[in-house]
Amino acid sequence: MQWSKSFITTLKEMPQEAEILSHQLMLRAGLIRMLLAGIYSYLPLGYRVLSRIEAIIRQEMDASGANEVLLPALQPLDLWKKSGRDELMGEVMIRFTDRRGRDLCLGPTHEEIVTDLVKNYVTSYKQLPRLLYQIQSKFRDEIRPRFGLIRACEFIMKDAYSFDRNEEGLERNYQLMFEAYKRIFSRCGVRVLTTKADSGVMGGDVSHEFMVPASSGEDTVWVCQECDYAKVFTEEKKEKCPNCSTALKKINAIEIGHIFKLGTKYSAALDAQFSDSDGRLKALLMGCYGIGVSRLIPTIIEQNHDTEGIIWPKEVSPFETTVLALDITDPKIIQIAGEIYAELTAHNIDTLFDERDERAGVKFKDADLVGIPVRVVVGRKNILYNKIEVINRRTKETHVVERKEVLAAVVGMLKTVE
Ligand SMILES: Nc1ncnc2c1ncn2[C@@H]1O[C@H](COP(=O)(O)OP(=O)(O)O)[C@@H](O)[C@H]1O
Ligand SMILES: [Mg+2]
Ligand SMILES: [Zn+2]
Repeated sequence: MQWSKSFITTLKEMPQEAEILSHQLMLRAGLIRMLLAGIYSYLPLGYRVLSRIEAIIRQEMDASGANEVLLPALQPLDLWKKSGRDELMGEVMIRFTDRRGRDLCLGPTHEEIVTDLVKNYVTSYKQLPRLLYQIQSKFRDEIRPRFGLIRACEFIMKDAYSFDRNEEGLERNYQLMFEAYKRIFSRCGVRVLTTKADSGVMGGDVSHEFMVPASSGEDTVWVCQECDYAKVFTEEKKEKCPNCSTALKKINAIEIGHIFKLGTKYSAALDAQFSDSDGRLKALLMGCYGIGVSRLIPTIIEQNHDTEGIIWPKEVSPFETTVLALDITDPKIIQIAGEIYAELTAHNIDTLFDERDERAGVKFKDADLVGIPVRVVVGRKNILYNKIEVINRRTKETHVVERKEVLAAVVGMLKTVE
């Protein structure tokens, strides 16, 4: 993609509205734009990152045997009354009446809808287990939307739901999701802690939260510095680690995923039953598994940046490589840079070509800000000796190579970057 023909909206100034670093960087790098508090547009660079994250999630969910669906965002309040969550959700749920007089809400989550769907098809133990997921916009009228995509009123979630015949089946699906989540977050370049947590509104027994340590995190997690023990406490506690009796340390973290064993809470309330091999009617055993897909973007940035800007982990970067033509009034520079761009693109390397009529300093600053992992610099001095620079965004490691070696140098560097 050519920069001059793209809707890339980097900012020189620090935006006033952003309180935390990831939000500042998202605005400055032109990833998102606020429409109203808690409501955002994804601009081309931000949307590319979002799509890459979604692709990773789809691969890992599909590999776990989950089936993708897309459920409606518009939901009848009736189902929420049946489950008892109409009142519980309170003002967080956005409700309205349509012209037919139907009481509706904008889905803040989908346990009721998916249970109602599955109960119409699953009648026998032979049709179990089932594992469904979707990637979709959720709507929550948050009391305090803030920190950009971290706490928004319209945000994108991956939510999965499992349906099983017995505890062993539920445990199997729960473990499948647990392992898939670890792979997803690792591929997204974030280090997560897993904590056993209170189930809150969801109301099941067992649940785990996936927490990303970050100074801006709204959650408090107690971690052991000796082993990998971590726990969420609702009140102040000065406990020692049950594994190694070291005192726990309090840190801030962002909740990025949450998995629950729901049991029969929704299936019992919504009459989702199946007949078991003994002929008896039983309520389906359910689990639900959420990931804050849009929240992952700022979370990745919180853990992957330096003073100059974002450092995208390779798999979620909007592009793999960027080519900088440092002076487009020099015909030799623009010709060679253009050839390199064409060559990389022809080899399926997703490349952003900065061929704008801008000073070198502006291009360097923007490249650091936008954070593409590998940078190819075509500048006047090196060109005299037929040399090109290939630079690692994270480490700043620089290779000065011959023109004909650029492709190999880029491929080599892409292999080594995280
Ligand atoms: N307002 C929000 N904005 C962005 N992401 C959110 C928001 N609320 C929840 N999420 C993400 O969706 C995931 C699943 O949602 P859930 O556990 O139901 O949320 P919560 O714990 O806030 O009630 C959370 O782990 C979080 O990553
Ligand atoms: Mg949660
Ligand atoms: Zn410990």
